[in-house]
Amino acid sequence: RQVAEKMSRHNNSVPDDMAKMTDMEVRGFLNLYGRYMAEKSTKPAISWGKIQQPDANMLKPYDELPAAGDTASEGELLKKLAVLKLNGGLGTSMGCTGPKSVIEVRNDSTFLDLIVQQIEHINKKYEGADVPLLLMNSFNTDGETAKIIQKYQDTNVTITTFQQSRFPRIDKDTLEPLPLSHTRYQHSDWYPPGHGDVFEAVFNSGLVDTLLAQGKEYLFVSNVDNLGATVDTKILRMLEETECEYCMELTDKTRADVKGGTIISYDGKVSLLEVAQVPKQYLEQFKSIKKFKVFNTNNIWLSLRAIKRVMQTGALQLDIIVNNKAVGDKKVVQLETAIGAAISYFKNACGVNVPRSRFLPVKSTSDPMLIQSNMFTLKSGSLVKNPLREFATTPVVKLGDEFKKVSSYLSRFGSIPDVLELDHLTVSGDVSFGSDVVLKGTVIIVVNTGSKVMIPRGSILENQVITGDLHI
Ligand code: UTP
Repeated sequence: RQVAEKMSRHNNSVPDDMAKMTDMEVRGFLNLYGRYMAEKSTKPAISWGKIQQPDANMLKPYDELPAAGDTASEGELLKKLAVLKLNGGLGTSMGCTGPKSVIEVRNDSTFLDLIVQQIEHINKKYEGADVPLLLMNSFNTDGETAKIIQKYQDTNVTITTFQQSRFPRIDKDTLEPLPLSHTRYQHSDWYPPGHGDVFEAVFNSGLVDTLLAQGKEYLFVSNVDNLGATVDTKILRMLEETECEYCMELTDKTRADVKGGTIISYDGKVSLLEVAQVPKQYLEQFKSIKKFKVFNTNNIWLSLRAIKRVMQTGALQLDIIVNNKAVGDKKVVQLETAIGAAISYFKNACGVNVPRSRFLPVKSTSDPMLIQSNMFTLKSGSLVKNPLREFATTPVVKLGDEFKKVSSYLSRFGSIPDVLELDHLTVSGDVSFGSDVVLKGTVIIVVNTGSKVMIPRGSILENQVITGDLHI
């Protein structure tokens, strides 16, 4: 209560408008903060023995979902759909300033360009379909996104943006919200509280009611950087037939994605198990691909009516993710929530085990190397795996720090190598590739500090390890 009083006093007296929170933000933050303070001492740990594997209704194989029907029935389903992209994040991890969604990922197209092309194609192909695109921005991405989306004015896609909450960081020692110690706006006092905020943000914006009034019933939410998150009418049909209010797409784990959340049956209910909830002694079990076989892609299908009900009843109390950070030499805490945790609040919720092609995220510059390569072709904004690739898997690519920034990554390739027969590529150190290089099998290139390797134009490297200061 003390913090609530201080915040209300602060909000009323601080002269800088930017340093103020809206009433809804204050309410949302105080709810999260109050739960954090209370749960710190009372929240029971997950009981490992109660965890059961999801049954066939809780986790459905994608291939066993019935087909969506003919084009006309697909069109009928699509009339009820809106697409929402989580666009609160910045491109910092790829060395870019500004929203991640405006990074060019294939040829000259940005994530947003490709997303708009995908929806444009649907709205053209299916008579009567008018799938709108919603972008959930954060205070970090809103301004620039607003400018950029003007270029889509002449498309057949209605784009609506709304802003998620902006919450104050908390001083880890005093547990006081940081802005209380400042009278002017300081950017580093604030943060967007995770994608779990989508429920409050979309509901508070009034968009849920607007969409319902337009006849929309479903919302397909996904990370803006997942190029595999395309509209899927089979899943949409399943939602309608089973009256499923929440559907999470999960895909088979490989050794590279052991940390992702997974679906479980807990107390007979479908639930998400995140790595942060796992007691230390079970961490290895959690990471193994044997027991927990699938992980959350963050492609989530929701019933709009259900969002409205859950928000109106105030039932949604998503697990809090405590994100410890440093701002200068101050230790701070960010309280966040994740959209996946909401699965247990919706009726007939389920997971669908989808092919890996629906999870093509771009986290570092190792990811666009594949996306820009001949592993994929572009069809109406969607990436299609090259049928000439004989293996079901996509190669694992690890590029070192020298490739981290988009600009340095681009300067190190004459052209993106042919990777059709590649399984694994590791590159570390000062390495550049000439044009038309072909990589096959496992290729490892490790160069020590101070040395340099240039892979000449037209080289074919097959199952090769290259080390040191070698010019091949
Ligand atoms: P995350 O930051 O959660 O990334 O953003 P991630 O995919 O789980 O994992 P790492 O940290 O990159 O490995 C996922 C999506 O959610 C959006 C981001 O823009 C991204 O599209 N997001 C995240 C928001 O819109 N708001 C937030 O507060 C956080």
